[in-house]
Amino acid sequence: MARKLAAGNWKMNGLAADLAEIDRLGAMLPDSGCDVLICPPATLVARMAERAGARILVGGQDCHAASSGAHTGDISAAMLRDAGASHVILGHSERRADHAETDAAVRSKALAAQAEGLVAIVCVGETEAQRDAGRAVEVIASQLEGALPDDPALLVIAYEPVWAIGTGRTPTEAEVAQVHSMMRATLARRFGAAADGVPLLYGGSVKPANAAQIFAIADVDGALVGGASLKADEFGAIVSAL
Ligand code: G3H
Repeated sequence: MARKLAAGNWKMNGLAADLAEIDRLGAMLPDSGCDVLICPPATLVARMAERAGARILVGGQDCHAASSGAHTGDISAAMLRDAGASHVILGHSERRADHAETDAAVRSKALAAQAEGLVAIVCVGETEAQRDAGRAVEVIASQLEGALPDDPALLVIAYEPVWAIGTGRTPTEAEVAQVHSMMRATLARRFGAAADGVPLLYGGSVKPANAAQIFAIADVDGALVGGASLKADEFGAIVSAL
C-alpha cells in the first residue's frame, strides 16, 4: 500500500455505461507512485474490478460487520473481496446520518474488513455547528478513538468536514493541517511507528482547481473525492496533482 492515495467515491451514482469512465481514466493516469482507487456502488464493483486493470484499485462504500447471515440488503467484507475489491469506505458521514452508524459500529465493520484483508478507509469529520462551537478537533479525536480498528497496515483515515462535502467550501489550510497533525499523533499513540504508514486523506469539495494546494498541506497524503471522481478528466487531473 502506497502512502499516497487518490480515492474516488461514486456514492449512489453509476450505471454500467459509466464504466467507460474507467477506461478513460486508465488511459490518462500518470505512472506515479500513488495508489488510485474508485469505490463505485456495490452493483458495479465486480464489473469495474474486471475492467480496471492493475493501475486502478476498486473498493466498496460500506460492509456489514458480520461475515454472512440474515441481513437483507447488506453485503459482507468477504463478498466485496470476492468481487475484486481491495478497500472499503466505512463511517462516511452520509452513512452515519442516513443509517445512524456509531463509532462502535464503524469499528466493528473495520475489524470485519481487515479480517478479510481489505483496507478500511475510516471516515471522520465535524459538522458545521461543531466547528463553529470550536469543537472540531475534539469531535474528530473522539470519532477516531471510537472507530479505529486494530491493524494499521490495512488502514486509511479520511478527514471529511461534513459542511465541506458537495458544497464547494473547504477548510483553511491551517484548519486541515491542525486536524491531520492531531490524527497522526493519535495514530502514533495507538500504533507506534506503524502509524507513519497510514495514509491520511482529506475529503470535501476537492477539485482539479484546488487539489495541488490541498496536497501541499502537511500530513495530507491524498484525497477522498466525491463529485469530481465521476468524470475521468476531472479525477485524472486530481491524481496528477498528487
Ligand atoms: O466521499 C467523498 C466526500 O464525501 C466528498 O464529496 O468531493 O463531492 O465534496 P465531494
